Amino acid sequence: MDERIISNHELKEDTFEGSIRPDSIDEYIGQTEVKENLNIFMKAAQMREEVLDHVLLYGPPGLGKTTLAYIIANEMGSNIKTTSGPAIEKSGDLAAILSTLEPGDVLFIDEIHRMPRFIEEILYSAMEDFTLDIIVGSDASSRSIKIDLPPFTLVGATTRVGDLTGPLRDRFGIIAKLNFYTIDELKDIVLRTSRVLDSEISEDAAIELARRSRGTPRVANRLFKRVRDFALVMGSGYIDLDITKVALDKLKVDEFGLDATDYNLLQSIIEKFNGGPVGIDALAASIGEEAGTIEDVYEPYLLQNGFLKRTSRGRVVTEKAYNHLRKENYESK
Ligand SMILES: Nc1ncnc2c1ncn2[C@@H]1O[C@H](COP(=O)(O)OP(=O)(O)O)[C@@H](O)[C@H]1O
Ligand SMILES: [Mg+2]
Repeated sequence: MDERIISNHELKEDTFEGSIRPDSIDEYIGQTEVKENLNIFMKAAQMREEVLDHVLLYGPPGLGKTTLAYIIANEMGSNIKTTSGPAIEKSGDLAAILSTLEPGDVLFIDEIHRMPRFIEEILYSAMEDFTLDIIVGSDASSRSIKIDLPPFTLVGATTRVGDLTGPLRDRFGIIAKLNFYTIDELKDIVLRTSRVLDSEISEDAAIELARRSRGTPRVANRLFKRVRDFALVMGSGYIDLDITKVALDKLKVDEFGLDATDYNLLQSIIEKFNGGPVGIDALAASIGEEAGTIEDVYEPYLLQNGFLKRTSRGRVVTEKAYNHLRKENYESK
């Protein structure tokens, strides 16, 4: 189990995510361009009395893909059925889900890049013509049957759009990339969470939290929850800047939002690989993390913030990372 505070993965405790999840597009903070475009497409579909085109949402974990899928269903006044790529193993699994769809439904497939290839192929006709072509029986008695489906909207989410095949990607009429949030947007998300959970936070504390949330709402909310604990036990419950700093330091989240694993990763490249370039598998082995986790969770933020560079020969640590680590080491003495 991943117990790291900044983990971008959904944890069990994140049933609490449900309670703080915005459920209309107006409450969804940031991602302005994506929101504006989606609003137009949704309105147009409603004016034509058609279903919304299929939507592919991609970006690092914790940026609001699942949230947006639910919002799309809400705004369209539709029901949402959810599944995930790895959960669909057999053609029967897909057929079972598709056959429950009612006209206008949203079908949300999370981690859609992890769907087996042959399932993808069945999905093509479902997406394109709202028909399901499946082969029933085996050997000589097998035959292909065609089932009509009601019009529906497929919303797919993925952290790895590059792993999707071209033909599948082409069947999404709307493709939206979610970006890391600005500090200002994260501050608004923290303030919103504080209102929803009814625990007060000062403006400067909210900014501090935002700054250390690596551009990610899920991280911001998780840090908020922990800081709230510190404020309750060590203070009056009111979350001010002092208690926030104390808490974040205790949680070992630094001023850029980097935590122990980020340090380990950067330090490893410097010490064991001379600053790089190093291939992802060698790096993964050296710090005991999975290559996929490094690529999905750690790297995007480190790349975006100039701590790490990707070259054709592998990952390279930047001057900024050297300086940051040197400074932190010095300060911790
Ligand atoms: N734009 C946003 N505005 C407010 N809260 C958000 C936003 N995006 C995400 N969140 C919060 O962050 C949490 C994680 O979002 P989620 O949709 O589960 O991310 P993803 O599916 O991309 O991993 C949600 O519970 C929600 O509370
Ligand atoms: Mg999700």
